[in-house]
This record gives sequence, C-alpha cells and structure tokens, in this order.
Amino acid sequence: MTASRTKSLSGTAAVPGDKSISHRSVLLGGLASGTTRITGLLEGEDVLNSIKASRALGAQALKEGDQWIVQGAGNGLLLEPGAAIDFGNSGTGCRLYMGLVGSYDFPVTFEGDASLSKRPMGRIIDPLKLMGTQLVDSREGCRLPITFRGPRVAAPIEYRVPMPSAQVKSAVLLAGLNAPGITTVIEAVMTRDHSEKMLAGFGAAIEVETAADGTRTIRLQGQGRLTGCDIQVPSDPSSAAFPIVAALIVPDSDVSLPNILMNPTRTGLITTLLEMGADIEIANERESGGEMIADLRVHSSQLKGVTVPGSRSASMIDEYPVLAVAAAFAEGETVMEDVGELRVKESDRLAAVAEGLRANGVVCEEGKDWLKVTGTPGGKGLGGAGSGSVPPVATHLDHRIAMSFLVMGLAAEKPVMIDDASPIATSFPEFVPLMQGLGAALE
Ligand code: S3P
Repeated sequence: MTASRTKSLSGTAAVPGDKSISHRSVLLGGLASGTTRITGLLEGEDVLNSIKASRALGAQALKEGDQWIVQGAGNGLLLEPGAAIDFGNSGTGCRLYMGLVGSYDFPVTFEGDASLSKRPMGRIIDPLKLMGTQLVDSREGCRLPITFRGPRVAAPIEYRVPMPSAQVKSAVLLAGLNAPGITTVIEAVMTRDHSEKMLAGFGAAIEVETAADGTRTIRLQGQGRLTGCDIQVPSDPSSAAFPIVAALIVPDSDVSLPNILMNPTRTGLITTLLEMGADIEIANERESGGEMIADLRVHSSQLKGVTVPGSRSASMIDEYPVLAVAAAFAEGETVMEDVGELRVKESDRLAAVAEGLRANGVVCEEGKDWLKVTGTPGGKGLGGAGSGSVPPVATHLDHRIAMSFLVMGLAAEKPVMIDDASPIATSFPEFVPLMQGLGAALE
C-alpha cells in the first residue's frame, strides 16, 4: 500500500473500541457466571482470537445486533480445550489467557504467528511456575508453541513484576483467580489498570494500595464468584493516535475524534504532542463505565522536538512508532528515553522505526533503549520508500509499523510505500477506509 501527500484531512473519525478493554471484556465475560453484554467491542483479528479462546475454554459468545453476548463458564470451571489455542499475532491475548488457564489442572498448548512466536513468554511462565505450573514443552528461549499444565491446587504468590508490563501483571492476577487465598502483584511503575478496574466490575475482591513512591500493590482474593456485567468499550486511544498525528502533520486539517478513552495510563502520547505544540482540544471529559472518555478535535500544527522522559513510557508504549513519525516533521530533535520494551513488541519496533525513517530520508539515531529523531518541518525531501532502488518500508507483521509509515506518507514530499498492509486488521480493520474518508491518499 502507498500513502501520498494529502492536501488536508477533515471530518469525524469514529475510532473502533479499545483493544486492551476488548480482550479483557471477552476473557472476563467468558469466565464469569451469567451473561456479559459488550457494546463497541473491537472486532480486529486479535480480539476475534480471544473470542475463539474463550469458546475453547467453555464459554459461549455470539453477536446480536451491535452487541456481543457472552455466557461464561464460571470462575474455577473452565474446560480443557480440545486442541491447541492459536492467538495469531496477539501478545496480549496469548499472555492474558496463559495467566487465566495457568492455574488449571489440565494441559494447554498455545500457538501464534511468526511474529508472536518470536516474543518472550518466560515473563509469564516464570510467575506461573511459582504457582506450581509445569512447563511441558516450548521452543528454545520460552517461545511459542508452548504447552503447560497447572497444578492440582495453585499456590497464591506475591510477585513483583520485573518490567513495566500490564500483560504480566494481568496474567498473574488472572492465575490468582483460581488459587486459594490472596495473590499479590507489585508494580514499581504504574501500567494500564484495566484489569484491576474490570476485575472489580465483575465482582472480584481486589484492592490496590499506592505507596508514596508510586509503587502499587494489588491484592486479589482467589476463588471468588465473578458475575457477568454490561460493558461499553470506549474508542482506542492507541488507534486514535494514527488519525491524530496525521491531522497534525497534514496541512489545513481539522479532525474530530469522539469518545476516546482518556485513562491516564494511556494518554502519554497526547501529553507529549501537547508539549510539542500540538493543537488538540479535549472536550466533554466524562465518565463512562468506570473510565474517563473525551471528545478530541485536532488541527494541523507546527510541532517542536522534545525529550520524552522514560517515566512516561508505560503510558504511551504503543504510540512511539507514530510519535517518531510526528517527530520527523517537527522542528529540531525529539529524544525518546527508556523505551527498551519496544524491542519485544509485534516487531523490534526500535529497529523497524529507525530503518523505516532512514529509508524515507529522516535522520535518526537508535540506541539500545532510546531513539533520537531529527525533524524536517514541511516534510521536504522526505518519503520515497518503494520507489527507484529504495525498497518499501518493511512492516515485519507489525500493524503499528504499517499504520505509522502510511501516516508519514500523507505529509512527506514523496509517497511512502509499505510492504504489507494486512497486519492492520489485527487492531484497526477500519483504518484505511476511515483515513480515506478524512481525505487521505491511500491506495
Ligand atoms: C497491553 C499491554 C502492553 C501493550 C499492549 C497491550 C495490555 O504490553 O503494549 O499492546 O492490554 O495489557 P506490555 O504489557 O507487554 O507492556
């Protein structure tokens, strides 16, 4: 697919449901007793794989009108799946369900695509082992396919999450749901807290204590009853990031984005863009289903480079690729600190971003856990991947690399071609028609 310089973007972008909340809605709905009704569920491939996983473990899920109706198996009552569970490209789906079934006394095999099969799973298997789970089989380095079997009775543990990761935190809490007693998870840096909030919404006995230095201690009472509930999924700020950055860098743009999730563990990109001088109006801030949401309106802006502190990285971890694109059009240098986790996402995002930027004429420097981008206001001379002797941007089965470089092509002087647009369907299947509806030249 190729993105070409676009005169302006205008209109309203109806961004699909939040991916993190969608996975958890399906997973917890499939576990809880009774009925869970979900509106606004993201129907990307990643979440559809979670629906299949819940079904394989004994839940029922079907769509009626615009609602997904899930009948859960009941906490402690998941069934042994008849075959391996395939999570496709989804690290979140795979790791959350590993936690969920890790404390059950039956064998389960997890599989994924070429990207997911490269990602580290030891970060989930290590705490599960402490609960008594046996690793039956895995590829070298604790990579998929992985088969494990939970113990007869799981031991509740106290676990300090070694890296900032909501997936690891959530996996341990979910495993704790089927362990007698209290499972404790400690995180030094606050990561997205959707699991804590939603577990409470489904009736779990869970409490969170935050120390003066920000360390959070989360305690969950295992083997309680979970009850189905109604969920309205807000629009995904990580998907909204693409039309937001596009509207900022394409001249004469005016784009509205209603109902965007504004949970502070997810708004680091908006904070950073505002510091860079972005014109983003945040209106109608309100609460919906336990989460803050707001309507955003974005106008084109001349951005300035900034240093993004490492302390902000957890709240914008998925947004660095598109921030790097914004930085390519900003005046001066943008430095992104403490972003080593980007190396173990759907691709090595630090390498993929640096390589894609260079292929399009952007000056950048990549360190082990940092990235520095030098911007060119107006995008003069930028672009060109996929023409002449320059190969298209390699997306490495990574949806966010694909969307980021398409956004770049809308404002660069020369078109930007990416080698594969199909991964976009994992998280944002409406991306191309939505952007074309705003006026984007994508073909
Ligand atoms: C997610 C957590 C983050 C994020 C991912 C979604 C979640 O991963 O990158 O897209 O829903 O819990 P890590 O926990 O590995 O940081």
